[in-house]
Amino acid sequence: VLPDDAARRDDLEATARRILGAAGYRRIETPIFEATELFARGVGEATDIVQKEMYSFDDGGGRSLTLRPEGTAPVCRAYVEHGMHKLPQPVRLWYLGSFFRRERAQAGRYRQFWQVGAEAIGSDDPALDAETIVVLVELLEAVGVRSARLRLGSLGSPETRAAYRERLAAHLRSREDELSDEVRRRIELNPLRAFDADHPGTQRVMETAPRLIDFLTADDAEHFAQVRALLDDVGVAYEIDTSLVRGLDYYTRTLFELTSEELGAQSGVGGGGRYDGLIEQLGGSPTPGVGWAAGIERMLLAAGSVDEESTDGGVDLLVARVPDSPATTAFRLAADARRAGLRAELETGGRSLKGQLKHADRIGARRVAIVGPDGVALKDMASGEQREIPAADVVAAVSGG
Ligand code: HAM
Repeated sequence: VLPDDAARRDDLEATARRILGAAGYRRIETPIFEATELFARGVGEATDIVQKEMYSFDDGGGRSLTLRPEGTAPVCRAYVEHGMHKLPQPVRLWYLGSFFRRERAQAGRYRQFWQVGAEAIGSDDPALDAETIVVLVELLEAVGVRSARLRLGSLGSPETRAAYRERLAAHLRSREDELSDEVRRRIELNPLRAFDADHPGTQRVMETAPRLIDFLTADDAEHFAQVRALLDDVGVAYEIDTSLVRGLDYYTRTLFELTSEELGAQSGVGGGGRYDGLIEQLGGSPTPGVGWAAGIERMLLAAGSVDEESTDGGVDLLVARVPDSPATTAFRLAADARRAGLRAELETGGRSLKGQLKHADRIGARRVAIVGPDGVALKDMASGEQREIPAADVVAAVSGG
């Protein structure tokens, strides 16, 4: 992240803090690496992430650790470990940090990337599903993500899913010879991934595949209907996608993804869903949860370049030095100005006086204090006016306007 990129990221972080804070989310940060076991169990043994994308290493003491590939399992681990069930429920949390997946890097897909995420734990109220979605949509709008599309689905309970997987696997087996090798090999392990396949034969087979949404229990169908009704009520547009698959195993009920046409192949800007079984799976008592994460790099890509100057802001005072003038006067002047809350920069580039004034122009300095052998002159860059001034009065003069 180079300085020119950093300003936009800072703005994004401030926007996330404002929007999530207003909705009652409090910041949490989990460690960069944790026990491999946490992700294997939390994210799911059969997922691409666990099977081939984790950076795992032996810590030298025989323990396997992994650079975090995602944030939900760690946040749930922290919820259990720190007794957050004793807090008023639901507990709303958000995070922003870097994550790691061993993927083939390309535009919008990196091995180290940043996510902002939100998790609301301790309630299965459909209003919480709708709330998290609304907050994500609001964030993407505030960041300026263009052409965003919200897809929404429901997975039901693990039992519904298990029965459905059998039905789907049977469908795949019945037309096995039309499938890609990869899908055929993984019919038993992960038949749902077939919905994601680019392979034309597989896609044809999937057109007539049974859809999970048709097999939801009455409770789950009602939950999903309420989430939709709430989104309708606040005017958030979505499409129901009965073949929505996400690469993590912990999801139950609501599932969603936001894509942007600006992004090309890696079109997912953010996504999430409900994970009512995850906390229990990690050793806590049964506790529902719902949340999402969005990629910082993808949000910025989808927002396009911003024409305005970076928000670095100008410099109040450049302390310029006539060659051979006393170094201490200039140094002290710059230090005093900063202590007084001014943004002050000391010339250290070895430029001629003319070069220093040109530099002042380039960095947008409002005033230049020219420190010479016998005194200081203060130059106003806007008017061009220049006057002699005692060194001790410079800070007050610049602060004064
Ligand atoms: P995810 O869909 O795997 O979900 O990742 C969320 C977002 O992270 C993606 O939509 C994408 O913007 C970004 N992302 C993922 N991989 C990369 C990559 N290699 N390079 C750049 N950006 C990437 C999760 O991680 C879940 N933990 C979300 C969640 C929270 N579900 C419930 N709560």
